[in-house]
Amino acid sequence: MSKFDYNELIDNETMLQSRSIFWDPDIYQDELKQIFNRCWLFLGHDSQIPEAGDFLRTYMGEDDVIVVRGEDNEVRAFLNACSHRGNKVCQAEWGKTKAFTCSYHGWAFDNMGELAAVPLEEEVYDNFDRSKLGLVPVARVQNYKGMIFGTFAEEGPDLVEYLGDMTYYLDVILDASPEGMELIGTPFRVEIPGNWKLPVENAIGDGYHVAWAHAGAMRVVGTIGQGRAETVLGIGKDNTGYDDSGQMHVAIPPHTVLSTLDGQSGYALYDNPEPCIEHLEKFRPSAIERLGEVRGKQLLGSEMHMGVFPNLQIIQGLNLLRVIHPKGPGSFEVATYSMADKNTPAHVKEIIVKHVGQTFGSAGILEGDDGDFTEAITHSPNGYATRQMKGWLGMAAGRTMDWEGPGDASPGIVNELCQREFYAQWQRTMLAETTSEILPEKIEQKEAANG
Ligand code: FES
Ligand SMILES: [Fe+2]
Repeated sequence: MSKFDYNELIDNETMLQSRSIFWDPDIYQDELKQIFNRCWLFLGHDSQIPEAGDFLRTYMGEDDVIVVRGEDNEVRAFLNACSHRGNKVCQAEWGKTKAFTCSYHGWAFDNMGELAAVPLEEEVYDNFDRSKLGLVPVARVQNYKGMIFGTFAEEGPDLVEYLGDMTYYLDVILDASPEGMELIGTPFRVEIPGNWKLPVENAIGDGYHVAWAHAGAMRVVGTIGQGRAETVLGIGKDNTGYDDSGQMHVAIPPHTVLSTLDGQSGYALYDNPEPCIEHLEKFRPSAIERLGEVRGKQLLGSEMHMGVFPNLQIIQGLNLLRVIHPKGPGSFEVATYSMADKNTPAHVKEIIVKHVGQTFGSAGILEGDDGDFTEAITHSPNGYATRQMKGWLGMAAGRTMDWEGPGDASPGIVNELCQREFYAQWQRTMLAETTSEILPEKIEQKEAANG
């Protein structure tokens, strides 16, 4: 039983939230248990480990995890901790191997997690049962169209049930072509001294900060700087004037989507968007056949930010996928991957990877701006008086719009619906006694708009 009243820390009526959720170490410990030990978490993509023996390392909460395609071609995930004394059995970030050999005393585990060899086994052990000393597996690992997720929860919703109607939006990226999406190269990684929830809410919903917080960056990257457009994403040059038509926030509990609906503005921040748009338009007719008119024309190519609770963001326009790994209440690691449909020509992929590096790579100019705010918001409550303040997420509350796809939509990307939904789900998960209670009650189903 937690000592906190999570109904009080997040007030869904007044939309006020306690600042303690960003710094309190005991709340953070509750998060590791209630959220990261139970939710489905993104582990990687098939394109990263295509062959038997391929592996990568990632985190589930603060647990170091190895994701590996075994000799039998099955993808499994294991805690990166030796069953002897707990040393890491894998130091590399990715690679290919038949065995993970512990650097402390040399126990070796095969790529299906079994303990395969123990130095001096016969000389020093009696009645030794290797079969009981394999790597500790992540309870369930499942795949949705190439995306590998894992959960430590033995019971509760399957992955597809957990993703729910979010698959309607995910498929714009994952199912636009028969080949599907791929992650290109290795991720950019950077550790930032802020609470993990802040970069999540920023990426999934905060269209408000873009033209203001990134005003300097915009002068050197993208079309604002080059004067090619009077407005970008509906916001006027110099942050004056705003047109919210053809844009939305959508809550698909427990997940969220922010999107423009013009099918092209995803490339608004590119220095060199023409080759990307040329490829997109060539590709679009076949994508419309697969996805239907609404998704093929309005969503494909738009600036679309998908938030899969708790810590995965897929950003179509910027062609990146990122995962936020918590590192204590006041620090997180962001892993940012470049992504593209597999059918994307090499010269377009090159532009994409360069753009991701410039904007949200380790030294990316947009990542740098956002890191500063995240740090300040996390650490200002070190002061006792500041700690008594509350944060407010009341923007566009009650505004609704018609939208054919699943979820409840509200107009504009300058909106706080996605952030409110993220914290409502955070609260639900912190309060849920069983894993089955993590998902919200099913809201009324709309007919999926494929036509
Ligand atoms: S800790 Fe791994 S072999 Fe001893
Ligand atoms: Fe930002």
